[in-house]
Amino acid sequence: MKKRPSYYFIRPEDTIKSAMEKIDLSGWNIAIITDSKNRLLGVASDGDIRRALLKGKSLADPIKDIMEKNPVALNNEKANDDEILKTMIEKGISQIPIIKKDRTVTDVKILSDLKKIPLSSPDITNKEINTIKEVLSTPHLSIGPKIVEFEKKIAGYVGTKYAVAVNSGTSALHLCIRAFDIKDGDEVITTPFSFIASANCALYERARPVFVDIDEKTLCIDPSKIEEKITNRTKAILPVHVFGFPCDMDRIMKIARRYNLKVIEDACEALGTTYKGKKVGAIGDVGVFAFYPNKQITTAEGGILVTNDEKTARLARSMRNQGRDEHTSAWLSHDRLGYNYRMSEINAALGLAQIGRIDEIIKRRRKVAEEYNSALGKIKDIILPYNGEKTDISWFVYVIRLNPSKFSREHRDRLIAKLKKRGIACSNYFPPIHLMKFYRETFGYKEGDYPITEKVSATTLALPFYNNLGKEDIDYICETLSQSLKDI
Ligand SMILES: Cc1ncc(COP(=O)(O)O)c(C=O)c1O
Repeated sequence: MKKRPSYYFIRPEDTIKSAMEKIDLSGWNIAIITDSKNRLLGVASDGDIRRALLKGKSLADPIKDIMEKNPVALNNEKANDDEILKTMIEKGISQIPIIKKDRTVTDVKILSDLKKIPLSSPDITNKEINTIKEVLSTPHLSIGPKIVEFEKKIAGYVGTKYAVAVNSGTSALHLCIRAFDIKDGDEVITTPFSFIASANCALYERARPVFVDIDEKTLCIDPSKIEEKITNRTKAILPVHVFGFPCDMDRIMKIARRYNLKVIEDACEALGTTYKGKKVGAIGDVGVFAFYPNKQITTAEGGILVTNDEKTARLARSMRNQGRDEHTSAWLSHDRLGYNYRMSEINAALGLAQIGRIDEIIKRRRKVAEEYNSALGKIKDIILPYNGEKTDISWFVYVIRLNPSKFSREHRDRLIAKLKKRGIACSNYFPPIHLMKFYRETFGYKEGDYPITEKVSATTLALPFYNNLGKEDIDYICETLSQSLKDI
């Protein structure tokens, strides 16, 4: 049963310790101090308590010694949610007690309940909804015309001969590993600064991901460190176009050709990015895109493998469909080990509607990134995302870094918590893959193994980023970030 707000109130004589306990229980981040009739006497925030303890107060001291005696409070008859939110933003506070005329507290409003800016948000229009409805009225919910059309559109857009749509980016990466017969004991060179799937895909076949540190500016694999990691077991290089920024593909391709290695481009985050006039994903032997809802375009869940090599496309097409032979219609005849990695017609239809809007989507995301750049450019000690000189980025996420000579991982994590309290979703993209529990335990990786990745990763911060993120919210995010940085 939900407790009445008064359950969490405390009296002025109660100890600082009991205030902390009530703060924990209530989730309000402040202690509400009232008299015996629940009339507001003061508040004390987490921060007030921390500062008081640092100054020598003890947990046994009464809360009245440190409480704010004139807190902002709003009258319950006048205040609606919009007004409450406006007051919180104006005053820079994250909670407001709601009181009656006689100052009896009736409720406590929390900013993050009223303002919610998500980290990402799909851009679904009526076009997408209608096309899905149309599919639902046909007999083809899987293996129908939409997936074929979607594959054609993506292949045409990135400039490859073939595209094979599957149910996730991870599945597509796995099929690349299988298509190149990478197996037990083989090695795949990749980066530890990525989403986990780019390394896991090698492990699915008992091959080993061999990490190469990143370039501190581009955050992509550092080509100058690749050759020293090549052994006679190396079968492929798997560069990741991280956050939509293209890897140095000229150098990577040169190394791969010299050592006869396959190149699997993980372009999951980079649909639409061009590198020297070519779309990424179409440069290596095979490329992979993902369509989770935070991506440039979404199919809800989904991914696609693109290639100019017929054999790779044929193998992938068969393996995504339980190893069936493409050329026979026999449903229960399986030529090789395969999987159910099929994309449904509903997902493909959604993707078709989205890819039809790709130019508009990329333009819109670029505008959001530019708005961030101009608002954050003025804030000291923030490193803006690297934008390249001769590249055309398709923005996936907007990730800033805090100046590593001034801020630590702890600062960054406290900043994330502060922004969340102000209704701003944000995240620590990416924690290093080699330091994930499973990788440490299996391969013995430890801190210090990939110093650039670790240094970068300690202070990165992904801010809300999506097509329809408005200027007003961007300003609010940047202003809150700027204020919060002063006190972490
Ligand atoms: C770099 C990278 N690789 C692979 C994937 C895996 O894609 P999915 O989530 O569709 O399996 C993602 C998705 O976030 C990604 O960002």
